[in-house]
Amino acid sequence: MNFASNAHPSPKSSPNLGLKHRNTFGFEASAELAYEITAPDQIPAVMTQIAEKKLPWRVLGGGSNVILPTVLPGATLLMNIAGQEIISSDTNSTLIAVGGGVNWHNFVAWALENNLPGLENLALIPGTVGAAPIQNIGAYGVEIGEYIDSVDAYDANSHAFVTLTNEECCFAYRDSYFKKNPQRFIVTKVVFRLPKQWQARIHYVDLAKQFSEQSSPSPEEIFLAVCKIRTHKLPDPKVIGNAGSFFQNPIVPNEQYETLLHEYPGLASYPDATGKRKLAAGWLIDQCGFKGQRMGNVGVYENQALVLVNHGNGTAQDILGLAKCIQEKVKKEFGVHLEIEPNIL
Ligand code: EPU
Repeated sequence: MNFASNAHPSPKSSPNLGLKHRNTFGFEASAELAYEITAPDQIPAVMTQIAEKKLPWRVLGGGSNVILPTVLPGATLLMNIAGQEIISSDTNSTLIAVGGGVNWHNFVAWALENNLPGLENLALIPGTVGAAPIQNIGAYGVEIGEYIDSVDAYDANSHAFVTLTNEECCFAYRDSYFKKNPQRFIVTKVVFRLPKQWQARIHYVDLAKQFSEQSSPSPEEIFLAVCKIRTHKLPDPKVIGNAGSFFQNPIVPNEQYETLLHEYPGLASYPDATGKRKLAAGWLIDQCGFKGQRMGNVGVYENQALVLVNHGNGTAQDILGLAKCIQEKVKKEFGVHLEIEPNIL
């Protein structure tokens, strides 16, 4: 499949489209007006209509990192741009262009099948390729920003397509230029640069444990190990509604970390790339006794306190009520503010 820019028909639009199966929390929600975008060249006309009608708008990818209200007013763009192809390869690296609507995990598996390792630590992360750069998805010691060459997007400010280089994306922990500029960019394509020289990255504690007796696992073995760990720790959204980590791991100054460590010797944390300390929010929440607790239709997952779940019939209000309780208790106990990770639409 390639990205030839033939003219595409107008996108399909649907009034009052149900989104229960398009958000991994499984909240009952509907979009007042939904547009299914299957090609970048459909976007300018849709955005002109939206501007003329002065409608509020937002983009929905895999729905795996959002908290949806019962009704999404105005326009919702459902991103379904497909396609993945190797665009160049030299002695150092391979460049791969992938459509924003491609399922993230399927792309990681496809890359491995095509002998293009590098992304295996990020296996099984739900969502789409287009959403990956927005929050700079990361797991098991790898963040996707390291492997992104450039991102193509429609810029709603300039009404034009733009290409942002890796540097211009300003990637940081669960953050990017796209996230800092909400209501501006619609990601259409991501170009990945995978180095030819591959090295296993198994320093993250869960992976190090898996491979304690095997010093050089293959990319496929790491892929399978990550899938196994995630399947054990994180609930399958098809079975129990959730959006992965509900809070970011808070980054605190070293001084605060030392004081907390003195008081709580078991404090789980990681060194942060900026020289500060990243605390494990799951540990903080767990210590406050929330793990496995239920509050009406929603609750805290029994195997990982960082994940809030919908036991069925829960709403955005329920989950935000529980989140507020957790934030208040953690703040009171540890003096640390927990930032909500999914987007509240
Ligand atoms: N911990 C507890 N109790 C809990 C949960 C965690 O004590 O209920 C402790 C663990 O024992 C461990 C530490 O906290 O020492 C960290 O836990 P874990 O390794 O499970 O990772 P995490 O920091 O909770 C982050 C990402 C995950 C990613 C994992 C693996 C964030 C916000 N979350 O979680 O990302 O999969 O590391 O790399 O950075 C996601 O963003 O949706 C997500 C799942």
